[in-house]
Amino acid sequence: MKISIAIDGPAGAGKSTIAKILSDKFNLMYINTGFMYRAVTLFALKNNVQPNDIESLCKLINSLDMKFINNRLIVNDVDVTNEIILPEISKNVSNYAAVPEVREKLVDLQKKISKKYNVIMDGRDIGTVVLKDAPFKFYLNASPEERAKRRFNELINKGIKVEYNNILDDIIKRDYIDTHRKTNPLYKASDAIEIDSSNLTIEQVVNKIYHIINSKL
Ligand code: DC
Repeated sequence: MKISIAIDGPAGAGKSTIAKILSDKFNLMYINTGFMYRAVTLFALKNNVQPNDIESLCKLINSLDMKFINNRLIVNDVDVTNEIILPEISKNVSNYAAVPEVREKLVDLQKKISKKYNVIMDGRDIGTVVLKDAPFKFYLNASPEERAKRRFNELINKGIKVEYNNILDDIIKRDYIDTHRKTNPLYKASDAIEIDSSNLTIEQVVNKIYHIINSKL
């Protein structure tokens, strides 16, 4: 049976941690679409391509071969996972992700992957655009302060030096850009189940989603 799961929500809501665990439980390929927008941002910054230089951006994206292997993003045979999570990329990614041509290309690629494999995908427009027909859709949310706290701990644990206030500022700015952009803004699909994870552990959120899916299978 073809099953696909869509998980949307703002930055730091716990989407990727939860999607990874569910991908193992249901034997699905996990596609972190935020990583794909981050990779475009990484290479655009490296090549000095601004978000308003559409022609160069499209050329750049066409030159990127993106693959997910063991939940890591490989671009042109190089593992870029550690680089794309750095604060410099987080700070810039929403501006590149707001460009309609960038979205069109990445959404296209995401749809192609989902036709080939059983997937769990997380992002901002999965339930509303990429996997519009997915039988299982979730919208994960948490307060900006809680989300900033989680991102802060995650980066500190990886040895990356950051300030909590900078992370919170960045999350609030990104929320605004992601929910107000013209093309595919972040919002909850009408048929998605919303889960506020502010006061829930990862295990509690996973169990909730696991039971909802199992009861429908
Ligand atoms: O999930 P994340 O924080 O790694 O995502 C990085 C950025 O990419 C986020 O600010 C918005 C953008 N994004 C998007 O616009 N659409 C998606 N499907 C996934 C991410």
